[in-house]
Amino acid sequence: MSNNGFDTIWRAVHKQKEKEAAQGITLKDLFAHEPDRMTRFVKTIDGLYFDASKTALSSAILEGLLDLARSCGIEELREKMVKGEAINTSEDRAVLHMALRLPSSERPEPALNDIYDDIQCTKSQMRQFALDIRSGDITGASGQAFTDIVNIGIGGSDLGPHMVYTALKGQFNGPKLHYLSNIDAHQWTALSKTLNPETTLFLVASKTFTTIETLTNAQTAKDWLIQKLPGGEKAVTHHFVALSTNNKAAQDFGIEQTRIFPFGDYVGGRFSLWSSIGLSLWIGLGPDAMDALFDGAYAMDCHFLKSPIEGNIVVIMALTGLWHASGLNMSALACLPYDQRLDLLSDWLQQLDMESNGKTVKKDGEQVAYPTGPIIFGMPGTNGQHAFYQHLHQSPQITPVEFIGVKNPDHRHKDRHHKVLLANMVAQAQALLNGQDNKDEPYRNFAGNRPSTTLVIDRLDPYHLGLLLALYEHKIFVQGAIWGINSFDQWGVELGKALAKSLLNNDKASENDPSTLALCKLLAIS
Ligand code: F6P
Repeated sequence: MSNNGFDTIWRAVHKQKEKEAAQGITLKDLFAHEPDRMTRFVKTIDGLYFDASKTALSSAILEGLLDLARSCGIEELREKMVKGEAINTSEDRAVLHMALRLPSSERPEPALNDIYDDIQCTKSQMRQFALDIRSGDITGASGQAFTDIVNIGIGGSDLGPHMVYTALKGQFNGPKLHYLSNIDAHQWTALSKTLNPETTLFLVASKTFTTIETLTNAQTAKDWLIQKLPGGEKAVTHHFVALSTNNKAAQDFGIEQTRIFPFGDYVGGRFSLWSSIGLSLWIGLGPDAMDALFDGAYAMDCHFLKSPIEGNIVVIMALTGLWHASGLNMSALACLPYDQRLDLLSDWLQQLDMESNGKTVKKDGEQVAYPTGPIIFGMPGTNGQHAFYQHLHQSPQITPVEFIGVKNPDHRHKDRHHKVLLANMVAQAQALLNGQDNKDEPYRNFAGNRPSTTLVIDRLDPYHLGLLLALYEHKIFVQGAIWGINSFDQWGVELGKALAKSLLNNDKASENDPSTLALCKLLAIS
């Protein structure tokens, strides 16, 4: 963690923790000790309600952590990000996903004028392209409108758009979207059986356009089209689009320049659903839905940038997570949406959080002295209740929980279904907090005193989803800034990729360990 009084503050916060522990203060007790707890720890913005009152933060600890955040220069770093300074130091890149959602009525920092103009230009091309696909003005080679759009991408070039589509598809009409990510051809084999080549458009989504999974799937899809389309190779260009920063590689693949939607290297992969990587959503949900998604994210950007840190939902959420992970050594975080449509939220969050903050080395090259980003996992309630909640309630390992609820459903079964769903969510948080004593039957004993936060949005519409996603993005930024790490690179994914290549090429095989050699032989890899 960065210094600047940091160590002194960190020690003081720990002293406070010890003092509270010595007094035997439990999470539940905090409500009695702190009459203003609901005001301090519950924040709302535009139909998003955030409750961190059932967490292991007393008001005194929160005060200390706010000081810690100030000592780490959160406000300055936030400014640097907005101004386009290269805060992604190891790659010497700016971090400008917020510029992607700046409305056209707003101007960015003067230094970013050119970037901003490029962003607006691509956005209007995407809008028009999406409208033309939706109306049938742009068709496949045989003149038929596209019915199916396949986004070929992985990691950030898949998870964000896929998650948003799953969340919102029930509310909007449009061509059907599919997401092809895995190099495992079982995925393609199953998908291709459902597709009509004449009415299918492929979007090759890859920031670098070098990712082996994506390029392999794209080539397989291309071969399939060449084989199936009446016009063969010539017809294929009508069925391919690229979303990439690597114009040359996309062209080399055979995609026409007018079909390449660019973005800048200042957009990290896991933040890229706001860039042209989100094109599938523009087509499948329509530009009006996308405008509302962007408006929601922009509203959260404004809150994050302008609110004082003590009233800032992002900062409070970040400090809560940071305290659980680094202060209390809780190494996991369960993300539990009580809405089936948010099925893929924890997958998206896994990459966003773990690829950003699963790091050991600080920007200054020093090792971090505390655990950093937690292991994220989750699934929608109530399914999770019947899978892993046993561990959440009774394991000696304590896992903080993030409950996410939606107040108003988009179905007609409010009384029979929705109320029960939400009652389950609230009850789980209550059980984690209060526990239940049972001395006679110890296996029925619930220790309680287990932290959770609850986020509720009014409705799962594009606007509120935008608010929620930007909240998570900024939370990760704040935590990374306090830990002093670079949240915007991902060097940890490189070694495995390089070794897979060398196994396939049979490079330096004699240096491989016996277990690796045996597996390569068994699996006929090399
Ligand atoms: O897993 C590493 C990673 O670089 C991610 O950060 C990224 O989202 C993903 O691969 C896909 O990369 P690309 O968009 O360049 O294909």
